[in-house]
Amino acid sequence: MVSGLQWWFSSMCTAFCITFFSFTLLFSLFSLLIFFLRLKVGCNCEICQAYLTSSWTKEFHNLCDWFTHLLQQSATGTIHIHVLGNTITANPENVEHILKTRFENYPKGKPFAAILGDLLGKGIFNVDGDSWEFQRKMASLELGSTSIRRHAFDIVNSEIQSRLLPLLSSVSREQRVLDLQDVFRRFSFDNICKFSFGLDPGCLELSLPVSELAEAFDLASKLSAQRALASSPLIWKLKRALNLGTEKQLKQAIKMVDALAQETINQRREKGFSDSDDLLSRFMGTINDDKYLRDIVVSFLLAGRDTVASGLTSFFWLLSQHPEVESAIRDELERVIEGSSDDRRQQFATFDQLRDMHYLHAALYESLRLFPPIQFDSKFAFEDDILPDSTFVRKGTRVTYHPYAMGRMERVWGPDCLEYKPDRWLKNGRYVPESLFKYPVFQAGKRVCLGKEMAIGGDEMCGSGHNQPVQYPGSQSESSTEVRSWSYRQRPRWLTSSSSRKWEDS
Ligand code: HEM
Repeated sequence: MVSGLQWWFSSMCTAFCITFFSFTLLFSLFSLLIFFLRLKVGCNCEICQAYLTSSWTKEFHNLCDWFTHLLQQSATGTIHIHVLGNTITANPENVEHILKTRFENYPKGKPFAAILGDLLGKGIFNVDGDSWEFQRKMASLELGSTSIRRHAFDIVNSEIQSRLLPLLSSVSREQRVLDLQDVFRRFSFDNICKFSFGLDPGCLELSLPVSELAEAFDLASKLSAQRALASSPLIWKLKRALNLGTEKQLKQAIKMVDALAQETINQRREKGFSDSDDLLSRFMGTINDDKYLRDIVVSFLLAGRDTVASGLTSFFWLLSQHPEVESAIRDELERVIEGSSDDRRQQFATFDQLRDMHYLHAALYESLRLFPPIQFDSKFAFEDDILPDSTFVRKGTRVTYHPYAMGRMERVWGPDCLEYKPDRWLKNGRYVPESLFKYPVFQAGKRVCLGKEMAIGGDEMCGSGHNQPVQYPGSQSESSTEVRSWSYRQRPRWLTSSSSRKWEDS
């Protein structure tokens, strides 16, 4: 009787599994079929066919470079990828229209909110309307104050002195090769966690430890982004409902992020938050809902980690290719530090001295022009619209502005647009800002990046310490975005620098 029951039960399980997997497979195939049918029926134009057949890969390494080429060729600086329902523009007037003039017509939209919703929840990065406005107001108040900028400066300063420098010193002593991008990711993760939660994951300790939070956060970001690659959102939604494959992994990774965030919130409540400077403590003064607090803080982690790491990596790579820029930064640093009335021994420019480093500022802005950490950004049109260059935008379709392509447009930056020339930002030795609609590296208009000043300040602190010869295993022949490691030929001299000491020539 018992074995009969077991047999019945196992047959039912087998039947259920077969039905379930057949259904999932058929459903996926059906979605793919619909997707391809729609694409084929949708458009036969040259660009769409090159996209569908991937023939663009014969000439270009990545989509960004191909889109840049198409945008350079376009008379209006705007192109359409019909099969993706995407209008892409590198025209500053269009950018101003989308990000400022008709801001209300170009929200982030539901498709992206759904894709990132499980990780970011209702955090500022992922919402539109009232919820965005509320967080924006609060965050602007908090981040706009000089006190929090000084606090951020102190965090970065301490991370550089107690971790980054000892690490570089040890690597250079042992003549090891270092993956600088990995170092900067650890550096920015430590900084943004300390800044957001008041929590130190210690990723940049000498042993380069694995951080559970960093790993869970990486995995969750990667898997969330992968959702966008599914041929139809129904596929990942179904997988999520059934807790299968990558969706199961994503759920576990988010659970880990949630647990760590909750633990931090609890600790803050126990210890009291009124005396702490971190962002979470500041928000806790006004918000009681733990889930909301978690969402806000996770959005900041996403906003301030890879952007900063990517910006620093490209900056240092460009400096290694342009020794004349590196020595101009050194000269400026020397002038600023030596001109200071403060006669204490200094390793770095102070918070106030950094503001006088116009050339460094220009060198950093110029590096972000060529290698913006966020290469493109999309919105969804709420209603039909016409852009200033007469491009028609249909309701519900995607509109993308492309900072990476804009940095490479002759009509925006002149015939030398592909060259790394900090001087283009200087007038009589002083930094002169450009319109953010021409340079939407930090977005522009109402949703302009809230961490811009802090990111620039942090990068400049690193840049103001850059004073050592570097040698790349990869050379200029490698794709600029792929070269990610270098080795120090000798001990970085900035480790022992002081205000009374002159930089040596390499
Ligand atoms: C070089 C470094 C950085 C770059 C290039 C950068 C760029 C950007 C861009 C392009 C956006 C718009 C994204 C979108 O709406 O989809 C943005 C938004 C934002 N950024 Fe940054 N960011 C950087 C660093 C930071 C840092 C360090 C913080 C935090 C301390 C931060 C906080 C934010 C926030 C809160 C938003 C959302 C603003 C809103 O939606 O109203 N960013 N950033």
